Parts: sequence; C-alpha cells; structure tokens
Amino acid sequence: MNTITDILATMDYGKAPEDSAIVRDWLKKHEAGFGHFIDGAFTAPGETFDVLSPASNELLGRVTQGTEDDVDTAVKAARAAQPGWAALPGHERAKYLYAIARHVQQHARFLAVLESLDNGKPIRESRDADVPLVARHFYHHAGWAEIMEDELPGTAPHGVCGQIIPWNFPLLMLAWKVAPALAAGNTVVLKPAEYTPLTALAFAEIAAEVGLPKGVLNIVTGDGRTGAAIVAHEGLDKIAFTGSTEVGRRIRRETAGSAKSLTLELGGKSPFVVFADADLDAAVEGVVDAIWFNAGQVCCAGARVLVAESVAKRFEELLEKRMRQLRVGDPLDKNTDMGAIVHPVQLERIRGLVAQGVAEGAELVQGSAPEGCFFPPTIAMKVEPASTLATEEIFGPVATVTTFRTPEDAVALANNTRYGLAASIWSENVNLCLDIAAQVKAGVVWINCTNVFDAGAGFGGYRESGFGREGGREGMMAYLTHPKPKARKPEAVPTAPVGQPGEALPGAGARIDRTAKFYIGGKQARPDSGYSYPVQGAGGPVGLAGLGNRKDIRNAVEAAHKAKGWGKATGHNRAQVLYYVAENLSARAGEFAERLTSFGASKSAAQAEVETAIRRTFWYAAQADKFDGAVHQTKSAHVTLAMHEPLGVMGIACPTAQPLLGFVSLVLPAIAMGNAVVAIPSQTHPLAATDLYQVFDTSDLPGGVVNIVAGERDALAKTLAEHDDVAGIWYFGTEAGGRMIEEASAGNLKQSWVEDGAARDWLSRDGQGRGFLHRATQIKNIWVPYGE
Ligand code: NAI
Repeated sequence: MNTITDILATMDYGKAPEDSAIVRDWLKKHEAGFGHFIDGAFTAPGETFDVLSPASNELLGRVTQGTEDDVDTAVKAARAAQPGWAALPGHERAKYLYAIARHVQQHARFLAVLESLDNGKPIRESRDADVPLVARHFYHHAGWAEIMEDELPGTAPHGVCGQIIPWNFPLLMLAWKVAPALAAGNTVVLKPAEYTPLTALAFAEIAAEVGLPKGVLNIVTGDGRTGAAIVAHEGLDKIAFTGSTEVGRRIRRETAGSAKSLTLELGGKSPFVVFADADLDAAVEGVVDAIWFNAGQVCCAGARVLVAESVAKRFEELLEKRMRQLRVGDPLDKNTDMGAIVHPVQLERIRGLVAQGVAEGAELVQGSAPEGCFFPPTIAMKVEPASTLATEEIFGPVATVTTFRTPEDAVALANNTRYGLAASIWSENVNLCLDIAAQVKAGVVWINCTNVFDAGAGFGGYRESGFGREGGREGMMAYLTHPKPKARKPEAVPTAPVGQPGEALPGAGARIDRTAKFYIGGKQARPDSGYSYPVQGAGGPVGLAGLGNRKDIRNAVEAAHKAKGWGKATGHNRAQVLYYVAENLSARAGEFAERLTSFGASKSAAQAEVETAIRRTFWYAAQADKFDGAVHQTKSAHVTLAMHEPLGVMGIACPTAQPLLGFVSLVLPAIAMGNAVVAIPSQTHPLAATDLYQVFDTSDLPGGVVNIVAGERDALAKTLAEHDDVAGIWYFGTEAGGRMIEEASAGNLKQSWVEDGAARDWLSRDGQGRGFLHRATQIKNIWVPYGE
C-alpha cells in the first residue's frame, strides 16, 4: 500500500490550460493580415511577415513590414494631432487615459492570453504581472495629466515622440512609453518588436474603442529597418528606445546633432547579492523571480548571483533543489513556471553564449525543458569574473553563481560590469543593505526583494544601461521639456589657439604677469606639450595659457577619480566648502573684475559678471544639502526611496563669452551635487577661470574635485566625450561641436548636455536653477520592504 509520503512524492500537477478561444477568434478575424494603426484607423496590410507562437510554432498572424513612407505618414498624422492634444486641459487628457486603463482591465484576460501566445511567457506572468501593471501605468499617468500644470509648472511636451520597444514585455513596454508621453501632451509613433507585435495592435483597437483623438497614437509594425526609419525621421522631437545596448549606441550616434531628445533603456547584467545572514529560503525564491521570471528575458534580471562564501554551499543546494521543481512548458498552462524563449534566434543566442561559457570552464547545473523553443533553467558555477557568462547579457534563464568574502568584495564584484541597471541585496541587516545599496552603481536597487515594479517609481539605468527614467515624477520629466533658451546669434567658432613653446610672450612687456598653468589634482600643472597660447585682450595679448592635449585631459580625469570622497561627503560638508569659495571669491572681486576688463569688458559689465558669479556660488552652496530626493508612493509595505546621486566624473566645456560666469554657472552645480569635474574654460579667455585655482586652494576644496585644462575646446572636449571613465559631459559651444560631442559620447553611453554657447544669458535666471542640478545627478530608486 502507498503511504501518504509516497503519494505526495509522486504527485504531479494535472494540466490547467487557459482558454484561448477569444484570442483565436480575434486572430481569425485578422487572418488577412494586420496593417498599421495610423491617424485613428488601420491601414490595409502591406508586405507582411509571419508572427509565430514560439511555444508551438503555430502561425498567429501576418503583420506589415513598415516602410519609410509608412513611418512618414504616421509622423505626419502625429504632428497634425499634437497641438490639439497638448492644448486639451489636463483633465481631458486624463479622461482618455483613465478610459484606456479601464478598457485594459476589461480586456485583461484577452490581452494576457494574446501576450502569452505571442511572446511565450507563462499565463501566470502575463495575467498577474504584465497586464495589471499596464492598467496601473495608465491610471497613474492619467493622474499626472490631471495635475501636471500645478505639479510640473513651466514645462512643455516635446511634441512628437518616436518610440521603439522590445519583445520581452511587449504590452508593458508600450504602456511605459505611451502613458507618460500622452499624459504630457505629446503624440506618438510607436514600433513594437517584430517578434511580438500583436498586443500593440490589440491596444490600438482599445485606443479606437475609447475614442482617443486620431493621430495621437500611431503604431507602425516592422523590424529594425522600420525602427531605423523612425530614428532617422526629421519630423520627430524625441526618441525613446528600449532594447539592446548595441542598437541604443547606434541610435545615440544617429541622433547626434539632430536636436532630438533621447532616452535609452538598455541592457544589464545585474548583481543579486546574498549575505551570510540573509533568509536563504527567501533569497532562493528571489533568484527564481530574478532570473527565471520571463525565462530571464528581462533587462534587469538578477543574472549574477553573488553569495557569501560561508553560506554558499547551503545556498547552492537549496537553489538547485528549487530550480529542479520549476515547470517549463506550455505558456497557457496555469501551472507553468517558465514558458518558451521568444524566438529561435534568441534561443540560438543563449545556446551560443552558454556553450562559450562552458568552453571557458563554467560548470552547469540545469533543470529540464521540453523540445522546441525552450531553454532549461540553468545555474553556471566556476565562472570567472571576466568570462563571457559573467559579463555578457545572456537574456535567458541562466544565472551565474560566484562567492565573496567581505562586503567590500561584494561591492567590487557587483560593480564589475559596464552596465548599471539594477541590483538586489539580501541580508536581515537593513543597515548593511542600505550601505551596499548606496555603493552599487545601479538605477534600481531592491532590498530583500527583486523585480518589483510600479508606475510610481522611476526605472532606468546608470552607465551603459542607458539614461532617462520611466515611471514616477522622474519618468514624466523625460517627456517634458523646459523652454530652451535661444541664441540671437549662435556662438561663433573661436579663433584657434596658436601654440608656442615656452612661457614667454616676446615683446609683450609688463602687461604679461604670468602664464596660467592647468589645475590638476589640486596642483598647478604644466601642459604636457610644453606649449602655451596667447590670450587676447582689447589692445593685444594679455597673457598666456597652457595649450592642453589628450594627455592633460587623461591626467585630469585620473585626478578627478581620486577625489571620490567628495561624492560621499555630506551635503552640509560640501556646502561649507562652497560657502568658503564664495567668500574667497568675494574677497578678490576687484582682481577678477580687473582681469575681465583686461579682456575688453567694460568696467560695469566686469563687475556685474563677478557679482553674479559670487551670488551664484552662494546659491549652489545653499542647494548642496537641499536638492532632495523623494519617497515614492508605490506598492503597499514598501518604502521606495528616490535618491539623487552624482554622475561621478564629469567633463564640462565652457562657452566663450563671460568666461568667469560661464565657468562658475556650470562647474558649481556639478560639484555641489558631489561630482568631480574636468573643465575646459573659455577658449578665448581661459585666464578668468584658471585664476580660480587660488580661490579653490584657499577654500579647502579637496584636490581633484575641480580640474582645469585650457586649450582648443573641441579637441579637448572630444577626448572627454570619448573617455570611458567620464560619466557625463556638458558642452556649451558651437552646433558642429555639439554634434561631435553627442556622437563621441556614444562609446560608453555617457549622459550629454549640449547647447549653443551663446544661447543663455548667464547674468539672468537662465544661468542658474534646479535644471542644472537635475542634469548633474541621476536618480537611484531603492526599494525597501517592511513588515513580516
Ligand atoms: P534589438 O535591440 O535589436 O531590438 C529592440 C527593438 O529595436 C526592436 O523593436 C527592433 O525592431 C528595434 N531595432 C532593431 N534595430 C534597430 C535600429 N537599427 N534602429 C532602430 N530600431 C531598431 O534587440 P534584439 O536583437 O531583439 O535582441 C538582442 C539582444 O538585445 C538580446 O539578446 C538582449 O540581450 C538584448 N535586449 C535587451 C532588451 C532590454 O530590455 N534591455 C530588450 C530586447 C533585447
């Protein structure tokens, strides 16, 4: 006779298929093929491609490959609709977004089944995660439309947005893009991924159902070529992209100099850190959610499990046991834990990377998976930190397990990646968790939880995971712009510096008091080239400045990296140093004004420039401990902390005119927020800035926080833009220079801010404000659950 234990051990789940009849009816209705959704209606199908269900390989539908003309028609429709949409009172836009949210809820089961068929993800996930979050995003952003005027005053929509989304969360990514864009008063042209276009087309029907004004939402289907046509279209004001880092980098280069605003949400290789005192059972469940949720096809997947050596053996046993219980198979079966891989191409990619990992010495522990487009849940051990499996985004159900000894080791391993999207930290000691959360370079940190999302908090990356946030107040800001200052006359290309060896200006007489050196690591430094260039005043040369080169910039970047302590200092401490800078500048106001008059400025203009620079320094000193983050209202029993963090090392290329004030207006907000800066002062009049080293020296500003290298602005700025250890670059100069900077910054996807150097009146309020502080920081959202 069987004992109860025997029965329990041999019991299996029966099949629990979700009914797909309504979806199949809908697909049948569209058997002839789908067109695009443009200007409120579906176009006739054009040249189509097949959309297959990855789990069964069955044909679901035929979808049109969008051409350049299709994109153009969609952009024109969106352009025509945009002024009317933006002019609607926020309350009216909100009503449409509420209606969309309600209709998504009404069609929830249909959308979940369609998503699971098209993408291969388990119905449990599409039903319980994707679709409810889609509705939540529209509700949340309906609210933003309602209160925008009061909450985000002085902002305006960009206009028409091109949006390109991936295949891993097809409808959810649509919601993340469309909801904030429409709430803010933009209209959109969106392209779903070619593997998974169906829920976007069903969503277009919902938009029509709620009577969304025509042209506000346009959906063009197709592959990367259609995406490229969107990126290249001149009629767009903003591009928002989620997908691979490689394509993101390309889009950065292609939009350089186009004045299109850009946000990129790219790949990741996120750490999942388990300390010895963690609740190991909970952490094992965490790994299940981190890497086997959506078969690991998640940009923020916790793909690198880092576990404390002392508990590693126990943890690995628990993890393996749990992994073997995962049920892989039919996405429409309610008991399925892990469904299909989205497409055979992606399956091959995963297989290839795993094979390479094994060739490099990794040992695999794997669960099972059916034949077809499935990959078993996999744990890879003995993975070296520099190996393929530890560094490449696999985008499949493969976790690496590595051990660490100390918290310092854990942080070093966690940050040993070019990405910075997310991190998950497990310990019963919340002090330790928060300490590690602050040190990890990631836009989202989950403490004792993972893959938690909500429309109320920003999501987005640091470093090569992209820039911009989706969700929350910070996500709204990505779809809004402040009116840009316009130059009456664009900044002219400054005269090229004529280098000469040495430091003497023959025949210049007594007016030459000294040759300004660079300021690197808190010390004066001679130019590597040994060359200087004359600085012209009203009546001839008034001094010499060092002529910087790549080596000087590299030295300055290295020095800036050594000033890490500045970013960790309290806002109060930074404020005290900046107040001191302001006072010392004030004490030497006369000298600085004289310097400016020697360049040809009138006495009153020189005084006004110095006075404004002093006041501005006080203003940023005051802001150093006041530019706070927020606590977001997200899920119950979670505190979600949105913290402003410095970018790290920033490059700043200053405008030509108002050489003192331009420099102070850009460098001060950056250092007030904890960044270290390599600044290129005004090319024509660098001496106004190089004089500042004496002020910095006497104000206890730690060496390396501000580094100054003079010379040919564009050449030096290019070196900064290309430098992989520079996290952000601000360039205030010529249009051609701006394009060059945006292109050059694509390498490590650094954040760039490019403007015409003559656009701002630095003496006015244009030259100061919270906008500068926003640009000098990035937001990290830390999720801390509470309760038992
Ligand atoms: P992908 O980046 O090529 O595709 C994402 C979207 O971009 C799709 O809609 C695609 O049609 C479009 N696209 C492709 N080329 C384009 C171009 N030149 N210009 C404009 N749009 C373009 O990603 P793919 O090839 O599907 O997947 C490759 C790898 O990328 C994955 O294995 C994964 O590692 C990563 N990936 C990361 C995602 C994320 O959420 N971070 C999402 C999808 C893929």
